[in-house]
Amino acid sequence: MAQINPSILSADFARLAEEAKAVEGADWLHVDVMDNHFVPNLTLGVPIVEALGKATDTPLDCHLMIEDPDRWAPSYVEAGAGSVTFHVEAAAAPVRLAREIRAKGARASMALKPATPIEPYEDLLPELDMLLIMTVEPGFGGQAFLDIMLPKIRRTRELIGKHGLELWLQVDGGVSSTTIERCAEAGADVFVAGSAVYGAEDPAAAVRGLRAQAEAVTAAAPWACGH
Ligand code: DX5
Ligand code: ZN
Repeated sequence: MAQINPSILSADFARLAEEAKAVEGADWLHVDVMDNHFVPNLTLGVPIVEALGKATDTPLDCHLMIEDPDRWAPSYVEAGAGSVTFHVEAAAAPVRLAREIRAKGARASMALKPATPIEPYEDLLPELDMLLIMTVEPGFGGQAFLDIMLPKIRRTRELIGKHGLELWLQVDGGVSSTTIERCAEAGADVFVAGSAVYGAEDPAAAVRGLRAQAEAVTAAAPWACGH
């Protein structure tokens, strides 16, 4: 199964409720939280996540690109996020944080910037519900997909298989109709798409198109059996 998570970073921030409704067939709504410190951009925080959660039935996938997620991530669960992703580069105690996110009732997810390898975190994977591999440097929508991340996606998929984990593997950055199949072939099963969805004339149709492309690949993938 392939999940498509439109990123509202590419939506019209003045019409968030409508923009959320425009992609109601999506699996999750990807919400990029940026603090101007971890990344050089500033977006939104807890109050907007809370309001958005009330405005849509689509569950919220909060991607925290912030310093000190140990302190701030739990409040996003309280605000209604169904999944909370913190960056390992910013977390002081990723295991404790993942456990806290799960204990509060959300899916716990950890993100890696392009220069961060997966190997040091192999033993942490059972603590997580999802692993996010950034396929651009985080901070902005509309950047070009980094093909050099494909081997990391492949190696992560192998580690998930090796440990027999039910871990979702998400890719974020430059995912579009021209790159999604490469990501799926490498082993991703959750796809964030900002400009490819909200830049399209019909965002809901763009979601359906991306899902069909990804599913055609994952259906044939040996690691996808039983998904
Ligand atoms: C980038 C964000 C992404 C962004 C993706 O730092 O984490 O979620 O919205 O946008 P596209 O799909 O346009 O690359
Ligand atoms: Zn994101």
